[in-house]
Amino acid sequence: MGSQNEIVCVTGASGFIGSWLVMRLLERGYTVRATVRDPDNAKKVQHLLELPKAKTHLTLWKAELGIEGSFDEAIQGCSGVFHVATPMDFESKDPENEVIKPTIDGMIDILKSCAKAKVRRIVFTASAGALDVEEHRRPVYDENCWSDLEFINSVKMTGWMYFVSKTKAERAAWKFAKENNLDFISIIPSLVVGPFIMQSMPPSLISALALITGNEGHYTILKQGHYVHLDDLVESHIYLYENPKAEGRYICSNYDVNIFELANMLNKKYPEYNIPTTFKGIEENLPSVIFSSKKLLDHGFEFKYTLDDMFQGAVETCRKKGLIPLSHFNNDAK
Ligand SMILES: NC(=O)c1ccc[n+]([C@@H]2O[C@H](COP(=O)([O-])OP(=O)(O)OC[C@H]3O[C@@H](n4cnc5c(N)ncnc54)[C@H](OP(=O)(O)O)[C@@H]3O)[C@@H](O)[C@H]2O)c1
Repeated sequence: MGSQNEIVCVTGASGFIGSWLVMRLLERGYTVRATVRDPDNAKKVQHLLELPKAKTHLTLWKAELGIEGSFDEAIQGCSGVFHVATPMDFESKDPENEVIKPTIDGMIDILKSCAKAKVRRIVFTASAGALDVEEHRRPVYDENCWSDLEFINSVKMTGWMYFVSKTKAERAAWKFAKENNLDFISIIPSLVVGPFIMQSMPPSLISALALITGNEGHYTILKQGHYVHLDDLVESHIYLYENPKAEGRYICSNYDVNIFELANMLNKKYPEYNIPTTFKGIEENLPSVIFSSKKLLDHGFEFKYTLDDMFQGAVETCRKKGLIPLSHFNNDAK
């Protein structure tokens, strides 16, 4: 399964994960149809057009979640679809219509396009937001776990609309895929960190680099954090797409690290950032929480990168692109 001369579609291709996935698929010899909302926006697509093999193997297609039939053309003729796109606006003034509805409607709409086009396999980039958001965290999370929508809706924590959107979209997708006999796989990444080719600050790095930028609102996400390198995550997408035996949900996460451990590591590596080592309201003896990638590893997948690689790649790329300051004392960069 998964011949490298195939045509595949990647939704959300301009983003952090989508653009790296497009790059790796092109390297493998796939012909890629990349969907973006605005193909004329150079800031969003230039990094895709400059990729090796883009001239011969990449085309851009305009498509928007929540507009019925929007993905039909891009998906017609593809043997595989990687559905990566999702609205990520945590500050949305109208979360129901700007985040939740387009995520769910877009998911089903894409599956309808896949059914019409007789796509062989759909790989969906799901989220830990659909797995572990609940009042009392468990010691171990596996693929049987789902976030608690009642709890999310009652607390409305930072990012609540994203957690609701990803949980409802994935649940709806499983139902639709079963009813319509579609070969559907979901991959559940933890917080994705690493070097990147998109031009603006990736949403997940706003959280992952919060100790460096001092963005305290995101410390709760790092409290008992789980991490995967962008390249490992993308490789897992291609690996599972090509593996005939793959089925169901797959957690893809490589490190479980609490905020104190992360601060300690970053402090040693980047003393110039003056990273805090104590956190108001977060007790030192945090119980450990594990995101188990056992199912993925049992298939033969291997992670290549360390936690150090992830942060080194992310920090270096952000510095090069002027997205974070070079030190605590230098706040020239945006
Ligand atoms: N990064 C992480 O740590 C992480 C962790 C777990 C799961 N995920 C999942 O991974 C996927 C990609 O995330 P990312 O980190 O790459 O985020 P990202 O950089 O924000 O990329 C998301 C992409 O989705 C597209 N998009 C947003 N709203 C859309 C809409 N209404 N219609 C069509 N396209 C839309 C955007 O495309 P345009 O540029 O065309 O606007 C953007 O390129 C998401 O499904 C997310 O839930 C990410």
